[in-house]
Amino acid sequence: MNQTSPTPTASAPDDAALIERCRQTLRANDRGGYAVPSSRLYPFQWNWDAAINALGWQTFDEARAWQEVEWLMKGQWADGLVPSIVFHRPAESYFPGPQEWGCDHLTPPTTSISQPPVLASMVRRLRERSRDPQVDTRVRALLPGLLNWHRWWHEERDPEGTGLSVIYHPWETGSDNSPAWDAPLAQVPAATRPYQRRDTGVVDGSMRPHKAEYDRFVYLVDFFRERAFDARRIYDECPLRVADFALNTILLRADRDLAHLCTELGLHGAARQLLDWADRSAAALATLWVPALGRYASLDTRRGRLLTQRTHASLLAWYGGLLPVPAPGDDGPADPRSAALLAEFEAFMQATRHGLASTHPNESGYDPRRYWRGPVWPHINWLVAEGLAEHGHAEQAARLRAGTLGLIRQGGLHEYFSADTGEPLGGPDFSWTASIALILLDSGG
Ligand code: GLC
Repeated sequence: MNQTSPTPTASAPDDAALIERCRQTLRANDRGGYAVPSSRLYPFQWNWDAAINALGWQTFDEARAWQEVEWLMKGQWADGLVPSIVFHRPAESYFPGPQEWGCDHLTPPTTSISQPPVLASMVRRLRERSRDPQVDTRVRALLPGLLNWHRWWHEERDPEGTGLSVIYHPWETGSDNSPAWDAPLAQVPAATRPYQRRDTGVVDGSMRPHKAEYDRFVYLVDFFRERAFDARRIYDECPLRVADFALNTILLRADRDLAHLCTELGLHGAARQLLDWADRSAAALATLWVPALGRYASLDTRRGRLLTQRTHASLLAWYGGLLPVPAPGDDGPADPRSAALLAEFEAFMQATRHGLASTHPNESGYDPRRYWRGPVWPHINWLVAEGLAEHGHAEQAARLRAGTLGLIRQGGLHEYFSADTGEPLGGPDFSWTASIALILLDSGG
């Protein structure tokens, strides 16, 4: 395994050189219509990566930005699911591939699970920054698919109408092996069939999930296939069923952003439906606030237990729009949740040299080099910073953005970084890391 030195280089490349490097990385990862996250580790199109990468493309090639979204939507299922991975073209270096998912007969082949629905929010942002006079033709063509996907989250993944949509596989949360999923994953049997992992051939095993977790990840992939993806059966029987706070607050934001787009384009009925879902979700998410901890939790709906592990997830509440936006000149008493979450933000920023650790170091599952158990993820920082800025916390947002760019300047375009040392970790030449740098530099850092 090649490891880049953790020591900050004295001569960080200047912004123009970094921008050039980011563009080159996206170009090199481009497979004609979609960018792979990292060529050897993840050689297909990933769902929330594509949404973020579209924003990166837009900073220098708007037409290519829209293609990224349109290619992702080619993978949408008839029931509305937009899959976590679209296998547009075969590649050897990834497990589990379309056959294991039982989806190799689809065109294009896909997985059978989804990922955090940031896409509608990113489409709204693309439209707002667009220089294309015909942009609404593109947006209009995307709206039915996006609406169908949101319907899928609210109906297939919340058949009892609770306001919280569930996931059945930790990979659907995007924070694949966060300690928050340890207890629900422990309820999942281990796969007993032989299988060959590919990730640890590309990236050192110390940065990737353990075998015990992988055995359960594989069990779930088999479980969905063996039930022929029957939504109701899986809801009733899946041993892992979790309402992830981060995913639900991202969905809430995306519902409102999609409602905005529908209103702008004259689809008023659809907008009303989306706002109804959003209101129901906001009310349900409010019940996940744990006053004694001063943060939000996720909910294991299979066992009826809160998952209170201290991760970055709670800090997405601003981005999701769960907290009040202070009116200008408002110096009344701060909303107690906002005050507690700001304290939580500072606690994360102080806990390690580089924020935001994906898991707080005082959490027992913390592991500084392993995937979602500690390292910093640039796109999470960016989402948290967007939410902070939108709620009047400009100084905190600026600090987080500057720290994120600092990590990238020193460590390069890696997948994630050690929160303790800044050491670049995971896959190299990573598309959404390049995209986040481009977005941050495009808007002045
Ligand atoms: C990993 C991450 C996931 C991401 C994917 C591609 O699986 O956990 O969030 O989408 O890599 O970058």
